Amino acid sequence: MGATIAQLLLIIFIRFSLAAAQTNNDFTYLRALKDAWENTPPNWDDNSDPCSGWDGIRCTNGRVTSITLASMGLTGTLTGDIGQLSELQILDLSYNKGLTGPLVPAIGNLKKLTNLILVNCGFSGPLPDTLGNLENLIYMSLNSNGFTGSIPPSIGNIENLYWLDLADNRLSGSIPVSSGTTPGLDMLIHAKHFHFGRNMLRGNIPARLFSSNMTLIHLLFENNQLTGSIPPTLGLVQSLEVIRLDRNQLTGDVPSNINNLTGVFEMFLSNNQLTGVVPNLTGLNVLNYLDLSNNTFDESSVPSWFSTLQALTTLKMSNTNLDGVLPTALFSIPQLQNVDLSGNRLNGTLNIGSAHSNQLQQVDLRNNQIGDFTQRSQYNIELILVGNPICMESGVTDKFCSLPTNTSSSYATPPNNCMPTACSSGQVSSPNCRCSFPYTGSLFFRAPSFSDLGNSSVYESLRNSMIRSFGISQLPVDSVSLSNPTKNLDDYLVINLQVFPSGDDRFNRTGILGLGFSLSNQTFKPPSAFGTYFFIGENYEFLQGASRTGKKSSNTGIVVGAAVGGCVLVVLLVVAGMYAFRQKGRAERATHESSPFALWDPTTGSGGVPQLKGAKAFSFEELSKCTNNFSEINNIGTGGYGMVYRGSLPNGQLIAIKRAKQGSTQGGLEFKTEIELLSRVHHKNLVSLVGFCFDQGEQMLVYEYIVNGTVKDSLSGRSGIRLDWTRRLRIALGAAKGLQYLHDLADPPIIHRDVKTNNILLDERLVAKVADFGLSKSLGDANRTHVTTQVKGTMGYMDPEYYMTQQLTEKSDVYSFGVVLLELITARNPIEKGKYIVREVRQSMNRNKELYDLHEVLDPTIGLSSQLKGLERFVDVALRCVEETGSQRPTMADVVKEIEGIMEIAGLNPNAESAANSAGYDEGSRGSEHPYTNDSLFAYSGDHFATKLDPK
Ligand SMILES: *[C@@H]1O[C@H](CO)[C@@H](O)[C@H](O)[C@H]1NC(C)=O
Ligand SMILES: *[C@@H]1O[C@H](CO)[C@@H](O)[C@H](O)[C@H]1NC(C)=O
Ligand SMILES: *[C@@H]1O[C@H](CO)[C@@H](O)[C@H](O)[C@H]1NC(C)=O
Ligand SMILES: *[C@@H]1O[C@H](CO)[C@@H](O)[C@H](O)[C@H]1NC(C)=O
Ligand SMILES: *[C@@H]1O[C@H](CO)[C@@H](O)[C@H](O)[C@H]1NC(C)=O
Repeated sequence: MGATIAQLLLIIFIRFSLAAAQTNNDFTYLRALKDAWENTPPNWDDNSDPCSGWDGIRCTNGRVTSITLASMGLTGTLTGDIGQLSELQILDLSYNKGLTGPLVPAIGNLKKLTNLILVNCGFSGPLPDTLGNLENLIYMSLNSNGFTGSIPPSIGNIENLYWLDLADNRLSGSIPVSSGTTPGLDMLIHAKHFHFGRNMLRGNIPARLFSSNMTLIHLLFENNQLTGSIPPTLGLVQSLEVIRLDRNQLTGDVPSNINNLTGVFEMFLSNNQLTGVVPNLTGLNVLNYLDLSNNTFDESSVPSWFSTLQALTTLKMSNTNLDGVLPTALFSIPQLQNVDLSGNRLNGTLNIGSAHSNQLQQVDLRNNQIGDFTQRSQYNIELILVGNPICMESGVTDKFCSLPTNTSSSYATPPNNCMPTACSSGQVSSPNCRCSFPYTGSLFFRAPSFSDLGNSSVYESLRNSMIRSFGISQLPVDSVSLSNPTKNLDDYLVINLQVFPSGDDRFNRTGILGLGFSLSNQTFKPPSAFGTYFFIGENYEFLQGASRTGKKSSNTGIVVGAAVGGCVLVVLLVVAGMYAFRQKGRAERATHESSPFALWDPTTGSGGVPQLKGAKAFSFEELSKCTNNFSEINNIGTGGYGMVYRGSLPNGQLIAIKRAKQGSTQGGLEFKTEIELLSRVHHKNLVSLVGFCFDQGEQMLVYEYIVNGTVKDSLSGRSGIRLDWTRRLRIALGAAKGLQYLHDLADPPIIHRDVKTNNILLDERLVAKVADFGLSKSLGDANRTHVTTQVKGTMGYMDPEYYMTQQLTEKSDVYSFGVVLLELITARNPIEKGKYIVREVRQSMNRNKELYDLHEVLDPTIGLSSQLKGLERFVDVALRCVEETGSQRPTMADVVKEIEGIMEIAGLNPNAESAANSAGYDEGSRGSEHPYTNDSLFAYSGDHFATKLDPK
């Protein structure tokens, strides 16, 4: 008998200590969570290690760090076990409408949590106070659930909270602000997004909520029950870009200092009971969308200063007590699309002028006192004058006297040059005419800057940015289809989305939860015109959809252990704990002992330790750790050479790691030469090398991480950063200085060979940094020319002389830089629709006219023509850079001097560093999103991992 117990103990001991070494309690709690859920992924097998292969689970060092299960069709409740996963950083359970019950207070134990995303589940009950304990939280989206009660004041303690979305719940109570020792939302001075719309919030908007310390960009309080007046402190929040206070019961005058909010793009104050004079908004010179409808302002004529709001696309002031004659100048606002001044007392003769905006779509003036219309016989807009004296004359048949039948646009993404196929049941023909099962849902844009829903190019830009973002995130997407854009009752733009799988005709679970996360976490960022959004995903029919009901735990070790007796278990736990501790210590020592340079493999002829200036040698483990095992979430770019990952070093520095894929690695000597070259280059306008990894067969380059992405992303609207003329000048100067350094000051001089807007990055202050010396060429010899065997570079930027002669000089970089300068003012690709930017500019320009008559080719978002001081000289420099022969082109040093001169003409100080300060705020402007998950960053595009030195 004694022998049997000893044997049993031994078996238990071995089982248990093995389990403790390889796994830990996280798995117990994860299994407990699973037991409370139905429809968990089939590979959530009780007998397998969750860290190796459970869909939606990611781990670091055996601890669960991320749970992402969007649109899995989960049902059940979130149990308190969640609070035990103490290393958890990301929790995304969005679009599982069957997850119900309360949000458990234990959620507050997750001290490491950065992203809490529970969009459109079925949660209800009050928000727990313990949310305020989530000290590392950056991103909280709890929108579209059934939460009740008030907003916990403790949320004010989450110091680094960036995104707070509580919209579309049933929250009541007032907006909490701090007082004495009680925290409040006014303390969230790093928050950029307060999205509280569609709740039942009551009481005043507290004056204390706002201060000049705040950095909010989106303030969305629409559709609540807020009362009292708008506090004047709102005017202190200079960073604001979108304000929605509509659909409340606000009263009183609009505070006059709202006119100080010069960065506001969209403002909705409609459907309140605001009184006093129509607010003076002359200061809001980038305002796109203004809705003041349904308020009881003092009777007044249409303010004449409306026509100074030159960026306006949409003006809505129905039922606001306007009278008198509508000024014709209003219609000359260049991008005006939609005017709604219905239900006022406008009278006299309507004259929309002959030079009205060519984007003008609809003018709704129903129920006014208008007696005549100057352009009655010839106009090409949708005009509504129903309910005006002009339509009450007997026998009128004018089109403007009847209501338009159907104003909704019927846009749908067209097939991509193919014939749509008839598909079997459930399948849908994709834009590429393949039958498959799409992931579907609805995108809700809360404040788009436009109101012309019929413009298909807007949807194309949305589609393209989405495809690109899914590509960057390496999601298995074939194509994306958008359809049926409409405005809903809350004035949100709603668009149906279908995402089609690539390869198979169905997504697997990893694909769906990845797509869901990309949209729930705002990793995908739409073009800036669409503004802020949320997504509601539908359930997806998985192929092996066999639902697994919670199986009982099969951890027999613990069961038997418990049967044998509690005290044995305690002994085993202690032993196991000691074992785990020893293992950890051993691993740490191993890392310390392995000298990085010892990893340099002498047998491959790499010739010993490289001579480095400041570049650090990293071990594979170090880089693996700071990228979460090179997790997909941290993947920020892909190219022929391999992938780019984002990571953060233990000291907090953000880095971008370029990791060569198998087959793209080069010889050890080449790699060493490259690192030596890169580590010598130090300039504020060049991305600098932090270190490298040459370990375990891997070759990686570690760069500083540049937060605001490429200049290309900003020009195309993808990054959401608006570049005005002064910012563009500073970027041109910075990039020119970086290249000048490579040519004139680096030793030996370096020719970049792939200068393009994709290789110029913008840091947090929008300082330009030239990146990717992937094709760089070191110039060792005296005559500074090289005959190369292989012409490298990017189409559209490539010097034709170099292409023909294969003679490489610095002037080839100058040519490419000239193309970059043209791109900076036109925001067009160098080659677009078969047109070459250099020829386009040469052909459209007329040196005798203002701005060389280039209005047609200039990027509309560059600013008003009157503000483009020095633009002509800028074009001159650009065109000299793209002269046919190198000898006619200036040097980079000449270019730097020229741009400095232009900046002086434009009234700028060329020695001031940042491009951001020209716009008064440093945050990258509208749509700029939380730093943690920005995906369009640092898109290295060079197809080469490292410098290829030509054989001498
Ligand atoms: C703004 O910040 C300053 C410095 O951090 C602080 O002293 C001041 O009290 C803050 N003001 C408000 C209104 O929060
Ligand atoms: C507007 O802002 C300026 C500068 O920040 C400030 O001097 C002025 O007092 C503000 N005006 C109002 C009405 O708050
Ligand atoms: C509106 O405000 C601007 C700037 O504060 C001022 O110059 C202008 O006179 C005001 N216009 C009206 C009509 O009050
Ligand atoms: C103004 O109020 C009316 C009546 O409640 C409503 O039908 C209309 O949609 C409102 N207008 C706007 C622009 O919200
Ligand atoms: C238009 O209305 C204004 C203000 O009510 C009034 O003074 C004016 O005489 C009216 N003009 C016409 C042509 O009816």
